[in-house]
Amino acid sequence: MKYKTVRDVDVKDKVVLVRVDYNVPIKDGKITDDLRIRASLPTLEYLLNSGAKQIYLISHLGRPEGKENPDLSLLPVAEALKKLLPKNKIEFGPLPVDDKPLQVPDEVKIVLLENLRFDPGEEANSPEFIKDIIDATGADVCVQDGFAVVHRAHASTSAVAEYLPVYMGLLVEKEVENLTKAIDDPEQPVLVIIGGAKVEDKKPLIDRFKDKANMIVVGGRIAADGYKGGDGIYVTEDFDEDANGEKLDVGPLATAKIAGYITDAKTIIWNGLLGKAEDPAYATASTIVAEMMGERDNAETVVCGGDTAGFVENLMKDHPNLHYSLVSTGGGAALEFLVGKQLPGLEAIKRK
Ligand code: 3PG
Repeated sequence: MKYKTVRDVDVKDKVVLVRVDYNVPIKDGKITDDLRIRASLPTLEYLLNSGAKQIYLISHLGRPEGKENPDLSLLPVAEALKKLLPKNKIEFGPLPVDDKPLQVPDEVKIVLLENLRFDPGEEANSPEFIKDIIDATGADVCVQDGFAVVHRAHASTSAVAEYLPVYMGLLVEKEVENLTKAIDDPEQPVLVIIGGAKVEDKKPLIDRFKDKANMIVVGGRIAADGYKGGDGIYVTEDFDEDANGEKLDVGPLATAKIAGYITDAKTIIWNGLLGKAEDPAYATASTIVAEMMGERDNAETVVCGGDTAGFVENLMKDHPNLHYSLVSTGGGAALEFLVGKQLPGLEAIKRK
């Protein structure tokens, strides 16, 4: 199944509405992880280089439940964008109150609008809400580049398609291509490494890959809590413990075994940290997996899940040689895609 991408539309002199996912962690007004902002740049640069007249960026941040909340303003993201795209005039603007034109001067190339979820219409998938935005901005086309939110049926991911043709942005394309390859056409052997805390979150992923993967490794809290594997599933059996006997990381024997699987695999999908990796004392197994995957040149390497992707991104800051086929920006969206669910934000994109 092929989707129309941003390369299939002539955006010259057009106003483009781009749905991004700038739901980034912000602490004391400072962005602590800008992966999702940086990941949106290829599409923005592509649109600017292709002569788009103006780009309106729309996103949510957090869960303000339809009410304005200054702590969840996207203003810090606008400031970050200005630094990342210094050659372009970028402004931050409020959500339009109705369909009145926003009247942004032509020299302003990018406008980031305020948090969509300040209005209840966004999560209610309200056609009127998104129509007001389209009318106020004068948008001619929509580009969906917020991979992390395509599993939500919201006004900016779903209802928008009632009024504008929607095209896939380069980030969504990269995510969908790599995840599809890992599921539908993986080079063998396929290794799936699963960690994290909640077995109910990971069970669908284990079930989905039971027949597709040559080996599934289960570590993290799930393994520490005694998950029972079965054929083709290796549940780590030794752990690093704290003074109270709490199992906080995968131990050296299991880590060595996982390292062997990584060396042999041609497709590696990793979702979920293997220990309490926010504490460096218990980040050993996750670090080894991240490094070994990131050093592979001849394998498809996919990292997904918010914490796992954040961990790998952090590691890459100190080890720029590490590289992956995909460090997914989508937490829930990537999981839902991998387990085969239909995602409303992708359904809304016109197919070829
Ligand atoms: C995410 O961070 O997973 C996405 O931005 C979606 O956010 P949500 O779970 O609040 O819809």
